[in-house]
Amino acid sequence: MNSAFPHRHLLGIEQLSADDIRLILDEADNWLEFNRGPRRRLDRMAGLTQVNAFFENSTRTLLSFEMAGKKLGAEVVNMHVAQSSVQKGETLIDTALTINAMRPDIFVMRHASDGAAEEVAAVMDCPVVNAGDGRGEHPSQALLDALTIRRHFGRIEGLTVAICGDIRHSRVARSNLKSLTKLGAHVRLVGPPSLIPQGSEGFTNFDEGIEGVDVVMMLRIQRERMDAAMSDSLGDYHAAYGLTRDRLAKAPQAVVMHPGPMNRGVEIASDVADDPERSLILKQVEAGVAVRMAILGLLTRT
Ligand code: NCD
Repeated sequence: MNSAFPHRHLLGIEQLSADDIRLILDEADNWLEFNRGPRRRLDRMAGLTQVNAFFENSTRTLLSFEMAGKKLGAEVVNMHVAQSSVQKGETLIDTALTINAMRPDIFVMRHASDGAAEEVAAVMDCPVVNAGDGRGEHPSQALLDALTIRRHFGRIEGLTVAICGDIRHSRVARSNLKSLTKLGAHVRLVGPPSLIPQGSEGFTNFDEGIEGVDVVMMLRIQRERMDAAMSDSLGDYHAAYGLTRDRLAKAPQAVVMHPGPMNRGVEIASDVADDPERSLILKQVEAGVAVRMAILGLLTRT
């Protein structure tokens, strides 16, 4: 552990202070500029082994953790879950202990169960990074979203961000709510009543929810975390909660974000997603590599 970033693992935004978050964003800002330059690789993590184990599907998170580790000079090993002993009934903890016995220097994992990364962190000797645990947290996503917003507006404090769609099943929403609030933004949760967590103050009218906001952050419907009845009850989701150009007129200054993967024509219309003036979606992807370099670098710095 280093004194500037006093955490052994990155399990959630929950455990981070506003200063911790700002430190990661400052480092990531530098990495983002570095990644745009001609030099591509460093030796910050030379001689260290990073193991990525994704028990749930991923494109950008897995690839960007892999690229981030490689850019810092680490040996990066991806566990192929579909071909692993998980398919033979090995428990998560046995898999973790097995990998731990091989002495990796950092372990990045995604899993469908809430709290999985925390359970694994309790039995491993190296730092563990939560790359998404069920409906729990997805801290690196919230950090890359914060970086994208900060680079666009020059600040986060005082902005109003509407997080829209399937809030209930979304770890991205949960982590973003925490980080944006810690950094001084106002967060509105917008979605159908069945997809807004009980007890939270949310907007069920989409037009009202996004009126005048600075950022509209769209989320995918997580059908894999719903039963059939709930999924059917959503009806014509696009008509009520899809972000179209007409709707976006309610927030004339707003930029549009989406963590991906997008379902075009469901939660977001294609012309909005592809709008070069308003959409920050590919900027988010770029920020993802830089933020993950900052995370890996901070957790392995001795
Ligand atoms: C998200 C995830 O896996 O939580 N995607 C991502 O990491 N970019 C969101 C989603 O799956 O909808």
